[in-house]
Amino acid sequence: MKKTVAVLHGDGVGQEVTEAAVKVLQSVGRRFDHTFEVKKGLIGGIAIDETGYPLPKETIDACEKSDAVLLGAVGGPKWDQNPSELRPEKGLLGIRKHFGLFANLRPVKAVKGMSEASPLKDHLSKDVDMMIVRELTGGLYFGEPKRKTHNGAVDSLTYSREEIERIVEQGFELARLRKGKVTSVDKANVLETSKLWREVVEEKKAHYPDVEVEHLLVDAAAMKLITQPGSFDVVVTENLFGDILSDEASVLTGSLGMLPSASIRSDGFGLYEPVHGSAPDIAGMNIANPSAAILSVAMMLKYSFGMETEASAVETAVYSVFDDGYCTTDVQKSGHRVLTTSAFADKVIEEL
Ligand code: NAI
Ligand code: MG
Repeated sequence: MKKTVAVLHGDGVGQEVTEAAVKVLQSVGRRFDHTFEVKKGLIGGIAIDETGYPLPKETIDACEKSDAVLLGAVGGPKWDQNPSELRPEKGLLGIRKHFGLFANLRPVKAVKGMSEASPLKDHLSKDVDMMIVRELTGGLYFGEPKRKTHNGAVDSLTYSREEIERIVEQGFELARLRKGKVTSVDKANVLETSKLWREVVEEKKAHYPDVEVEHLLVDAAAMKLITQPGSFDVVVTENLFGDILSDEASVLTGSLGMLPSASIRSDGFGLYEPVHGSAPDIAGMNIANPSAAILSVAMMLKYSFGMETEASAVETAVYSVFDDGYCTTDVQKSGHRVLTTSAFADKVIEEL
């Protein structure tokens, strides 16, 4: 198969981890006889410096001509004082919105032998294997009116039935590919949008008799993520709740450097990126853990290209490198050998 991938390295460690992930992608191409054509583009701070815009038109064009987008990270202290339209994050919000990427997928999985990095007790962290599905283009972050008023401020929480239906369907479809359970998170005891959300989930349930459904209020869900993290499979929720819960869930298994993400829409086009940011404290040192970026490539293979075998091969290769006694600085273990970013990628390629 031939696929075109837009690669936007971005800022800080985004440069290094994306380079590592592209190397792995190319080796998947050689190993499985696919051609991955890479189109590079600028985004974030580096794009502001070179073009004056966080998301230049050429970058959007490159993404439009591609089957998927791989992104590093954006931001850094250099641009922190910029006015809001010249902030690196504008590039990220802009690309999600431009391409209508309404579903944000974040898998959180315990990695064997890495429970030392988790804040949870071993018996709790070891069973963690969930996928947070967050609605990404609606809700409180985009609703109008949204402004300062003469003596206060207003944000609006709105959802159309259609916006809820498509994300809930996404949750059910993913549950079918996983452990067959959906936990829908809302605040149906107080919010109208949440009542509608719950109604839609109940309707959709009829089409997925093989999937078990649980409803949780968001406050209870926040507690249960800590007390019974192993009880979750797919968690589907709206934008704001998803933002908070996905960050909470992401620390359950240890390092940020291990966590990939996907932002997708129904036709398979998607943006894949590590959960972590540009890590200015370690940028340029070739010590960042590239696992999150490499596992994001695995998600791209699976969700945008339908290459399930290739995707699991990449996942297995990453975990095998750790099993073989190697690590990166963020997940150091006694007796394990610390690898640089590029050396880690080379080991993954050897495993492949
Ligand atoms: P961060 O995720 O960049 O870093 C948090 C901590 O985790 C740092 O100590 C960093 O060294 C470590 N870390 C992150 N990724 C790592 C990796 N792959 N390997 C080893 N250690 C890693 O978050 P922070 O420091 O809050 O933000 C830094 C910049 O990144 C800010 O400008 C922020 O706006 C931006 N950011 C961008 C995101 C994106 O592009 N999606 C997401 C989060 C933050
Ligand atoms: Mg967040």
